[in-house]
Amino acid sequence: MKLVQCIRNAATQQTKVCNFEVDSMTNVPKSILSKTKVGLHNLPASPLCILKEKIINWFDKCESGIYRQVSHQSPIVSIKENFDDLLIPKDHISRSASDTYYVNSKHVLRTHTSAHQSSLLASKSAIGYLVTADVYRRDEIDATHYPVFHQMEGIRLFSRNLDDIKVAKVKLEKNIVGNSNINVTETELSGNNMYQSTHSSLEQDLVTIHLKKHLEGLFGHLFQRKDEKPLQMRWIQAYFPFTQPSWELEVEYRGKWLEVCGCGVIQQRILDKSGNSDKIGWAFGLGLERIAMVLFDIPDIRLFWSKDERFVSQFQPNKISKFVPFSKYPACYKDVSFWCDPKFHDNDFFQMVRDVAEDFGAQDLVESVSLIDTFVHPKTLKMSKCFRIQYRSFERTLSNEEVDELHKGIQKMVTNLWNVEIR
Ligand code: DAH
Repeated sequence: MKLVQCIRNAATQQTKVCNFEVDSMTNVPKSILSKTKVGLHNLPASPLCILKEKIINWFDKCESGIYRQVSHQSPIVSIKENFDDLLIPKDHISRSASDTYYVNSKHVLRTHTSAHQSSLLASKSAIGYLVTADVYRRDEIDATHYPVFHQMEGIRLFSRNLDDIKVAKVKLEKNIVGNSNINVTETELSGNNMYQSTHSSLEQDLVTIHLKKHLEGLFGHLFQRKDEKPLQMRWIQAYFPFTQPSWELEVEYRGKWLEVCGCGVIQQRILDKSGNSDKIGWAFGLGLERIAMVLFDIPDIRLFWSKDERFVSQFQPNKISKFVPFSKYPACYKDVSFWCDPKFHDNDFFQMVRDVAEDFGAQDLVESVSLIDTFVHPKTLKMSKCFRIQYRSFERTLSNEEVDELHKGIQKMVTNLWNVEIR
């Protein structure tokens, strides 16, 4: 029987090899399996990792030392973990082979970070978690859909002794309430989205306030720019099989409502089954790409996977910066070398190139100009410099003839201006 192999996170040195036998359910293509090795959320210059760190910092600021970080779980999980333990109905569409990658009839590529909920709860190693992971759903590929994306799930447990929740709530209010300039619209619970009858009204209130304040504060922290008018947010009722009641939070950004996360009070049945019947808790889940695309101005979800220097070099750890678009058409390089005075200023050359390009009506075609070589002749002591000009268009592939014409114009200007000898 053939084997599906999964090697995790070579990039972070956390490598683990798992073998899974294939069967009639297997539908994971090689191209998708290869993505399981990347772990973009652990690469410090990826916008996804930068956003993850911002979120972690926020939770640490609210309640220092409470949230355990989890980000190296295997992407192959059992059907029990991905669906059954989370009370997802047997006939739910997300279980179908047209929506989910089946490794075999017992295992899938996790479709959400909630797949780790039951085992993390059962391990009882912390009262709070932030789990970050790549998740997989069979989907079309376009600017906003990709079959691999990244989610973060947060969980916070309290003992069902009210003092614990009250203390946590007071601490939280001290740390975040009033810090953000936000305006929140609430929603009334209705229909099946009611509190669980096993929880007292005081428990319900305290857990809900703790959950909502954390998330309102988080998105205030991420979206609010100083000196702007209050950020608008609204709570919407939602349905998730693993939480009750459930909500989604929306944030108004550039005139549109953007859904930023799902959350709710953890189903007590899930806590009971995982050996936590003395606890009550909340959970939330969010998609990192959706938020990063807005915050970093990244127009296409495929760019997160780009290895192009022009993408990768734009981001620095701990900083949310706006993406500057670049062309998908190929570049064309041409060099200019000449003998010159040792006092020759490179900046004069750079300026001249821009001026000539503008005269040709082609200022957008020069992507970069760089000095690639300097050489002093040992006998004559004359200096030679070589500059490389990179031409590229945003709209089309440039023809050699049009680049040649512009490049010849630049060479001519070099001799006209500085009376130097082209090599
Ligand atoms: N797992 C959900 C999804 O993939 C996201 C989610 C919603 C996670 C609500 C949660 C939650 O923990 O409480 O769409």
